[in-house]
Amino acid sequence: MTRIAVIPGDGIGPEVVEQAVLTLDEFRLGLDFDFLDHVNADTYLRTDVALSDEDVARVASSRSALLGAIGDPRVGSPAYGRGVLLRLRFDLDLYVNYRPAKLLSDRLSPLRRDRARAVDCVVIRENTEGLYTGLGGSLRPGGGHEIALDIDLSTHRGTARVVDHAFSVARREVCMVDKANAVEHGGGLWQRCWRTAAARHPDMATRHMYVDAAAMRMVTDPTTFDVIVTNNSYGDILSDVASAVAGGIGTAASANLNPERGFGLYEPVHGSAPDIAGKQVANPIGAILSAGLLLADLGHTAEAAALRHAVARAVTEGETTPDLGGPLDTRKAGQAVRARL
Ligand code: NAD
Ligand code: IPM
Ligand code: MN
Repeated sequence: MTRIAVIPGDGIGPEVVEQAVLTLDEFRLGLDFDFLDHVNADTYLRTDVALSDEDVARVASSRSALLGAIGDPRVGSPAYGRGVLLRLRFDLDLYVNYRPAKLLSDRLSPLRRDRARAVDCVVIRENTEGLYTGLGGSLRPGGGHEIALDIDLSTHRGTARVVDHAFSVARREVCMVDKANAVEHGGGLWQRCWRTAAARHPDMATRHMYVDAAAMRMVTDPTTFDVIVTNNSYGDILSDVASAVAGGIGTAASANLNPERGFGLYEPVHGSAPDIAGKQVANPIGAILSAGLLLADLGHTAEAAALRHAVARAVTEGETTPDLGGPLDTRKAGQAVRARL
């Protein structure tokens, strides 16, 4: 049996993960799901523990992991989200956050010009450095003279490996996105790693854009992108924009990867959506397509392709949740995908 750790998490997390697991079960591939149901905001509020060392070991010893969402409006500090999601990304060294955005059906595009619609790109987001390390501090906290510092960390190793990974998955072009016109030290490092990698791949088309222009282009003509590689924060933001022009945040999938170790933590790009949680209206497609990325990485490529086709058909035929204009609840939207496998 192949053990998959499952963290349903908070809000709509359990609702969408249920549909992803049921969909994986359809393939009868001998996957054995190990549910870490206790990892959620209720437990954190009660015990002050976001994720125990034992939980981390359980996830690390699994073949792959699937996560719903982490986040709850009752938790004020970022310590909880950091303690689960960022801890897994950092402790397991999942340095690639692979976030594909592909238009599932023409009717989902918010863009008026049809030539701008056929989005099919991947944001490769650096996932273990940048503004997310927690390095920094507050001077004179609490008063009118407070100074808050959050260090934007880039290392040569961390930057070079994620840029190299972008070249290994690109089909026609790699676009590196930074803010080297304003951010001096990190910008320079990304530029140097970028030029070295580009020189090693003379057959791959390359492009560089500043993040403000890239965000603008992602809205006006997203079809020009193939693979975007960028740092942790810019990747967080650009992948949400890409999901919106590809049909909606509810459809976006992601994989947190360590390609050398062959381990992945798969999760929808969206969060716990407290505004719609508990109502069974959340779109399960982001979670289901994340499960599809998991299947592909386990080598079940035919099953992963079948899953993507089933999702695209369900969407084209209008068998979706209300966010995509359909009449179905979360469970029925999951069933609609499974019925088309
Ligand atoms: P969000 O993605 O949860 O929600 C943004 C908007 O998109 C909301 O209006 C929501 O209803 C809608 N939405 C999201 N997923 C949807 C789906 N599957 N179907 C239909 N509509 C959907 O972002 P937020 O509101 O900024 O964050 C809420 C909480 O989730 C916060 O605590 C945040 O830290 C956390 N979060 C967690 C993750 C994660 O676990 N990977 C990712 C993003 C945000
Ligand atoms: C994501 C989320 C997280 C991030 C938050 C919840 C810390 O927005 O997975 O995109 O910024 O990485
Ligand atoms: Mn995000």
